[in-house]
Amino acid sequence: MSNRQILVTSALPYANGPIHLGHMLEYIQTDIWVRFQQSRGHQCSYVCADDAHGTAIMLRAQKEGITPEEQIARVQADHEKDFAEFLIKFDNFGSTHSEENRELANTIYNRLYENGHINVRGIKQLFDPEKEMFLADRYVKGDCPKCKTPDQYGDNCESCGATYNASELINPKSVMSGATPVEKESEHYFFKLPEFQAFLKDWTRSGTLQTEVANKLAEWLDSDLKEWDISRDGPYFGFEIPNAPGKYFYVWLDAPIGYMASFKQLCDKPDNNLVFDDYWNTDSEAEVYHFIGKDIINFHALFWPAMLSSANFRTPSAVWAHGYVTVNGSKMSKSRGTFIKARTYLDNLKPEYLRYYYAAKLNNKVDDFDLNLEDFAQRVNSDLVGKVINIASRCAGFVKKAGGTLAAELPDTELLQSFMDKGDEIAQYYEGREFGKAIREIIALADQANEYIHEKEPWALAKQEGKEAEVLGICSLGVNLFRQLMVYLTPVVPEMSANTLAFLNIDNLDWDSRLTALTDHNINKFKPLMNRIEKEKIDAIIEKEKADAEADAAAAATESNSSTGDLSEPLADEIEFDDFAKTDLRIAKIVEASHVKGAGKLLQLTLDIGEGKTRNVFSGIKAAYNPEDLTGKLTVMVANLKPRKMKFGISEGMVLAAGPGGDELWILEPHEGAQPGMRVM
Ligand code: 2FM
Ligand code: ZN
Repeated sequence: MSNRQILVTSALPYANGPIHLGHMLEYIQTDIWVRFQQSRGHQCSYVCADDAHGTAIMLRAQKEGITPEEQIARVQADHEKDFAEFLIKFDNFGSTHSEENRELANTIYNRLYENGHINVRGIKQLFDPEKEMFLADRYVKGDCPKCKTPDQYGDNCESCGATYNASELINPKSVMSGATPVEKESEHYFFKLPEFQAFLKDWTRSGTLQTEVANKLAEWLDSDLKEWDISRDGPYFGFEIPNAPGKYFYVWLDAPIGYMASFKQLCDKPDNNLVFDDYWNTDSEAEVYHFIGKDIINFHALFWPAMLSSANFRTPSAVWAHGYVTVNGSKMSKSRGTFIKARTYLDNLKPEYLRYYYAAKLNNKVDDFDLNLEDFAQRVNSDLVGKVINIASRCAGFVKKAGGTLAAELPDTELLQSFMDKGDEIAQYYEGREFGKAIREIIALADQANEYIHEKEPWALAKQEGKEAEVLGICSLGVNLFRQLMVYLTPVVPEMSANTLAFLNIDNLDWDSRLTALTDHNINKFKPLMNRIEKEKIDAIIEKEKADAEADAAAAATESNSSTGDLSEPLADEIEFDDFAKTDLRIAKIVEASHVKGAGKLLQLTLDIGEGKTRNVFSGIKAAYNPEDLTGKLTVMVANLKPRKMKFGISEGMVLAAGPGGDELWILEPHEGAQPGMRVM
């Protein structure tokens, strides 16, 4: 088998939110495939990066009151920690906001430009006159032009399903400022995708894609392709386009280039022999694979190969898409607690449980993947703990008792040979990303090993005189069979594999190491390699996610409540006096005000409402007030609002404020003479 040079990537996660178990399917799938290749002795590099550009990230930073650079650094640290704990072994994890990426993006863009593949023309777009920025569709809301449902996004209606342009919305408003957007023209840069129609028809059919993906793309490729808008006007967090001041590369232009940039960083690290050009020149013999989710196929299988071919770089050997993760048969849901963050999972359960479950059910198709939590626990407990580890734990003690050295000769060598022989088939499954089939074969072997031990009953023989050698032989074979299984499982459960090395006193479990039996060899004391999954841990994860979702919703409500200042907002529906009387408004004195660590809009207030009673309230007035200017002020609060659990603590009421929002917001201040605790009617 010749040694292959392989470069593998997973999609770059956006630097504006945490990693969740939906993301993890892809990283686990890729990591298993990479570890498998490495175990086979190939030079296989795995790179990734944070996807750091775009409007969403810029706005998120603004909301937090930090720079985009600070924002992406914070998120990247969390991402890297989550990946490391899930045993995802990147050779390099970069960022699209890196110098390497800027250079490569410029190089590629300049080549596209020189080749005549860039078109510049004016387009009309909605513009927020207050924020002075162009608005992408999701930053405009208004009434649906078809069914008139209010509060719909600029591209489609959630109520009737209609799709339209943001400029067709009735009564459009900028989500950012509430201002009415105006139409404005500006120059945009386009990549001439239609010129690549013939190239793409060929490329997508050349074994680079899964059949179902190629078929889907063929539908588009048979109709006319559109030019791709690759520029955005400032303010935008990204790279400025060469010779186009105020114009930035659209995030999706430099994101896939981030794969190359991260690999470049890896090549530039000391102590490695990787050469960038060997992988990316058009005559490269290396293999390049992108693992992605099905939602981003067009970026990877149309724009990306077209750009690479224009820019005189090689195209990927293949792009492999997977489906979405559902939990217990439904879309992941924050309120049901099934939108599970990597961190919440890791705080409760071992990464290898999930790695195993994902492997056991993965195939090479684009189908969605159901994480059924009951099946998850059952499968891991029964296969890994009940079957695989059981083999070692049943045999190790007898070997130890006999002195800790495996027999010099093994009985039933055909059984061992059949385990070794299975390696070729299992390898084919791994290679073809049919992990589920690989696991099925491995567990079938585990069943055979357990049957063998069950039949031979070493525990019964051990009670008989003169059977010591026989017992040692049976158990030495058992340990050897276990080792075979661990060779096959190493890509999936690398930590368990590392502990197996210690137990077996060997230095690797690489694919071919299995071909020599372990005989006359000292082994170490067996320590349990993995415990069963307890149902309580899964329940704890769901409860934590539910609590986080409630806290987020409460924080969002508090932040938006205190910034509604739209004078044109219609009056709410009429209520009865009794309804109003239920609201207990009180004069409150702000005795303490402080910033809340990590909160973009909130201040924490301690309010005196008379008779020695105080209330802790989180209020969305941070942009409008310095805490020190608030202490001592009198204001009005809703004193009988049910306490709400927020991310930062419990909020026991609400302070009344008015204004357009942001730094123009004023708390209500009563006439002098008011005393804390007085009821306001
Ligand atoms: O969809 C996403 O989450 C993107 N951040 C993926 C980018 S993959 C690559 F092209 F950079
Ligand atoms: Zn509608």
